[in-house]
Amino acid sequence: MAESMLGLKRSHRCTEVTTADAGKEVTVMGWVQKSRNKGGIIFVDLRDRSGLLQIIFEESECGAESFSKAERLRSEFVVAITGVVESRAGGVNENLATGAIEVRARDLRILSESETPPFPIEENSKTKEELRLKYRYLDLRRPDIQKNMMIRSQVATLARAFLAEEGFLEIETPTMIKSTPEGARDYLVPSRVHPGSFYALPQSPQLYKQLLMCSGYDRYFQLARCYRDEDLRADRQPEFTQIDMELSFVDVDDVLNVNERLLKKIFKEICNCDLPLPIERLTWREAMDRFGSDKPDMRFGMELNDVSELVKDTEFVVFKGALEMGGSVRAINAEGQGAMPRKKIDALVEYAKGFGAKGLAYLAINEDGTYKCSFSKFMTEEELHILAEALGGKPGDLLLFAADKDKVVFDVLGNLRLELARQLDLLKKNEFKFLWVTEFPLLEYSEEQGRYTAMHHPFTMPMDEDWAMIDTNPGAVRAKAYDIVLNGTEIGGGSVRIHQGDIQSKMLEILGFSKEQAQEQFGFLLDAFKFGVPPHAGLAYGLDRVIMLIVGADSIRDVIAFPKVKDASCLMSEAPAPVDSKQLEELRIGISKDSE
Ligand code: AMO
Ligand code: AMP
Repeated sequence: MAESMLGLKRSHRCTEVTTADAGKEVTVMGWVQKSRNKGGIIFVDLRDRSGLLQIIFEESECGAESFSKAERLRSEFVVAITGVVESRAGGVNENLATGAIEVRARDLRILSESETPPFPIEENSKTKEELRLKYRYLDLRRPDIQKNMMIRSQVATLARAFLAEEGFLEIETPTMIKSTPEGARDYLVPSRVHPGSFYALPQSPQLYKQLLMCSGYDRYFQLARCYRDEDLRADRQPEFTQIDMELSFVDVDDVLNVNERLLKKIFKEICNCDLPLPIERLTWREAMDRFGSDKPDMRFGMELNDVSELVKDTEFVVFKGALEMGGSVRAINAEGQGAMPRKKIDALVEYAKGFGAKGLAYLAINEDGTYKCSFSKFMTEEELHILAEALGGKPGDLLLFAADKDKVVFDVLGNLRLELARQLDLLKKNEFKFLWVTEFPLLEYSEEQGRYTAMHHPFTMPMDEDWAMIDTNPGAVRAKAYDIVLNGTEIGGGSVRIHQGDIQSKMLEILGFSKEQAQEQFGFLLDAFKFGVPPHAGLAYGLDRVIMLIVGADSIRDVIAFPKVKDASCLMSEAPAPVDSKQLEELRIGISKDSE
């Protein structure tokens, strides 16, 4: 039977009760974590979002009625308890924030009862994720998820306060819009009033924030929900949140500068971590050459080295072949791994093959300076020596070589570098290494579409000094685009935007839009730009990813209250779900047979 809380008022959250309250009467409310009946005395661990508090029931103190109610208490019952704070009789429990005290109950009300939950509500749950997500409302009671949600809230509050202080206005943009070109598939919403027409859910507020700049709002931000129908991974969700911003009358440095200060503030306040400014910057070219990645993890070295020049006259067909097709031979030095057993090296080769490598050549330097090498029969001792030297190889080191087209070589060695770091335990979760990657290519060639596509989006400004090459060598044109990378994850990205009509038209032409198509898709933006547009630039963070890294979660789902799983469904509500045929009729939508 559920009792009312009429006349009662919660005085403290569980862990707000301290030794300073000894002797005082308090009223606490929450869930029963655990109840132990020791005969004549009942111990209850009460839980709320702040933590646990021990309550003691003895009939002489609380009376027969409350005592008999206490005897019925089971896990997850919701209760209100009034009692007196005491120092713990049984000694301090160091594992609990409230371990030095307990509350001797005088009155108990059972506000609601609970069935036995399908899994225990506890930290570091061993329960399978599917079950936890099916009962997400119970999973969200677990202290570790609650901690993640609290940190998420704190980061959002800090970002809001910081940006407001810096003169940014928080403005909402619509979520039923015409498609935004961020490169993923749109989620569509059918219109009833305009049968056959659809709204798109925004992949980002990109066009609207640029329009706000046209309208003179100068500095805008928003915690914006974005929707992208793309293959999900551990750090991707179909709906996610951006801290999105746009600024007028600025260039790259201005955007990076204000964001560095924002990041410094967040990481100081939340992680007590002093972020040295300025954050290191690498151009995209340098990031690729040195780390084989446009989002390198800077917590360790193991940089790539281009040895193409050194092996250009080799007879080793693997190296020769790669160079002949315009590729390269590059290597990393896994220091101290020279004695790695053959089996483990073979596993690395297999790992490399997963990223398109045809193989992986190695040169291990034995402690006595001799070599163990997978291509020794194709090279002289002297040639091996030169290679080892160039890679800074010392006795005990393992050198790994990939030879292929550049794209494959980067992908293979970039990932191999990470895999080795994982194996060698070089990736510390509480170490935060930020990096700006700048000067991304403006365009990337899509083999699939047989044309160039925008690497960031079609409104990104080319670098002034490269624009002259747009017809002769479009692939070489760099953009005023930047990503912010934290520990090997892209947590945000942005660019300076094109604000000149002629550059924008040319850009759209290169991207294969006819004038009519461009007008149809984003005519409203192009038109707006005819009426006085300030130079502007912006950036958006993936808030979920930032939180994931701050709390050290392995999955983005652990920092989102109600996340979706890999196939974009929600295990709790079972969305998406079929709808009533009447609803479909109203929308004039028919479902084709083969999809049923
Ligand atoms: P971009 O597409 O790089 O830029 O997105 C910005 C950041 O959003 C995060 N992100 C995601 N997080 C979770 N799940 C996803 N599916 C997902 N997709 C992206 C990433 C990414 O860095 N309008 C531009 C920004 C700008 O130019 O100002 C944009 O959306 O952390
Ligand atoms: P093979 O002559 O095919 O046995 O190759 C000799 C060595 O080169 C083996 O260790 C292969 O794994 C390695 N290898 C093969 N293809 C590549 C490649 N594209 N890049 C680097 N090493 C390779």
